[in-house]
Amino acid sequence: MNQIVVEELTKTFKVAIKEPGLKGAIKHLIQQKYQEKTAVNGINLTIQEGETVAYVGPNGAGKSTTIKMLTGILVPTSGKVLVDGIVPNKNRMDNAKKIGVVFGQRTQLWWDLPILESFNLLKDIYEIPNNVYKTNMERFVELLGLNDFMHLPARKISLGQRMRADLAAALLHNPSIVYLDEPTIGLDVAVKERIRRFIKEMNREQGTTIMLTTHDLEDIEEICKRLVIIDHGKVIYDGELQAVKDMFARERTMHVQLDHAIPGLSSLLSQLEGVVLENEKGKEFSVRFDRFRISASEIIGIMMNHGSITDFHMDEPKIDRIIRKVYDGELTIRNEAYKGA
Ligand SMILES: Nc1ncnc2c1ncn2[C@@H]1O[C@H](COP(=O)(O)OP(=O)(O)OP(=O)(O)O)[C@@H](O)[C@H]1O
Ligand SMILES: [Mg+2]
Repeated sequence: MNQIVVEELTKTFKVAIKEPGLKGAIKHLIQQKYQEKTAVNGINLTIQEGETVAYVGPNGAGKSTTIKMLTGILVPTSGKVLVDGIVPNKNRMDNAKKIGVVFGQRTQLWWDLPILESFNLLKDIYEIPNNVYKTNMERFVELLGLNDFMHLPARKISLGQRMRADLAAALLHNPSIVYLDEPTIGLDVAVKERIRRFIKEMNREQGTTIMLTTHDLEDIEEICKRLVIIDHGKVIYDGELQAVKDMFARERTMHVQLDHAIPGLSSLLSQLEGVVLENEKGKEFSVRFDRFRISASEIIGIMMNHGSITDFHMDEPKIDRIIRKVYDGELTIRNEAYKGA
């Protein structure tokens, strides 16, 4: 069943144009001039229950603006948003009961209240039954390691602690959808890992729908099956993450171990087109190659003329290089399933 339906969603902001300097400021006071800025420009999207969707794009692409319309914080200029049949900005309380939101840039917790008090307040606001609250608290404290700072106010805890508390706060009422806008921004690797594991578990165990915005492409790799890329307020790709990798990850890296070191290995490999030697250490080395120009078995064949291979493995292609190329305009990707602009 379609849980989230977005049709031709558009948001334009009125931005003041002001000439520089004092003269400009005065002129602006007298005769205010505005310009229309289109942040989201005709987005179409349908998301099913239980999906894990990465919503990515360069700075200013319109990601947060989309999320704010989905959550009902912002009213669309035109187009349609339906979440479980509800129009979020018209029915904010009903909508709030089924969604959880984390904005990594800003906490939703009460700044001066101890974290535990914030949780208690949320329990009342969302009318969370005692047993649900208890079960969730126990689980979240354990999974997110909240114990050390439950009695401290939000303003006194570290960024990583704050993000974990925010995540717990967003999920206390068992929402069926969570919108996560940069939930790992500025965090160390260990905390990132913990947050990713938690999100994955919520999706797996409860079937929570995840819509995730991030600039950390490892978040996508670990959490999401579907990838939506937007740029200048428009969807430029919508499809399976794996399909993008299969289609566009031209570069692969192969790690090889030989029974003995091959003298002149780098000059041997440099004769092959599209092959680059990386990390040579005696009997072990890695080669990066363009699989559209040469295959792994061709490279292995050549190696075997010079020695025996005792071990080898290939790296899974990473999504980051591909997405960067899309941002840079080097790749235009189209997906059959995607019938957008
Ligand atoms: N309240 C606002 N008033 C005017 N312009 C806005 C407003 N909010 C966003 N914009 C503009 O709309 C565009 C999209 O902003 P948005 O915050 O949605 O981008 P984003 O994709 O989330 O970017 P980032 O990766 O930097 O978070 C930007 O050009 C931004 O300056
Ligand atoms: Mg943003």
